[in-house]
Amino acid sequence: MKLLAHDAYFAFAHEDGTPFMLANRLQNNEIVWLGPLYLVWDNTKSKELLDAGASDMPYQIKRIELKFMPPFPNMTLPPGSSAAAQRGFMHFRQHCMACHTINGEGGGKAPELNYPVSVAEYIKPEYLKRWIMSPRSIRYNTTMPGLTSAILDRETATEELVAYLKAMSNAKRVPANP
Ligand code: HEC
Repeated sequence: MKLLAHDAYFAFAHEDGTPFMLANRLQNNEIVWLGPLYLVWDNTKSKELLDAGASDMPYQIKRIELKFMPPFPNMTLPPGSSAAAQRGFMHFRQHCMACHTINGEGGGKAPELNYPVSVAEYIKPEYLKRWIMSPRSIRYNTTMPGLTSAILDRETATEELVAYLKAMSNAKRVPANP
């Protein structure tokens, strides 16, 4: 388990006494308050953690609860999904889930993408791809950031994300609070 396998720390202030916040480069420099506690992984010696980027780095932590169950069962792909869809799921957890929900699971800051009708059903694939890479080229005042340019092959990653969303359109599960 990640928590046991890697060193992790809760930070509660900046060393230099400046306000405990940061401007998130990946989300239009949105100011994020980090307190009460911010989770930091010692990722410099772990390829697995480095690959995971900023996922699983929650902020504004007030308490932690340990549960022994598979995380996000409603978001997982149906058995037999393609390798592309599985890589898409990984990208989704890293780059989308902080804001969006799938079948009710995930962040609640942005629209649900799968239930009851999937974005892969009502947005043409070429527009879905374009939306993910460059949302403002479709809706000029949208607040959604495009997929980060920090990843190596954005084009392929975007296709894999679309493969994940498409596969999930065949795996609708009623959200806990529909
Ligand atoms: C910082 C939060 C945030 C992140 C991260 C984010 N989105 Fe969004 N997304 C939004 C918001 C807010 C909207 C609604 C904005 C609008 O309609 O203008 C949206 C809208 C969408 C829509 C259109 C839904 C519709 O029916 O109009 C799709 C599809 C989508 N996002 C997919 C993704 C994918 C895939 C990712 C990951 C690569 C992602 N989003 C990452 C905030 C985010």
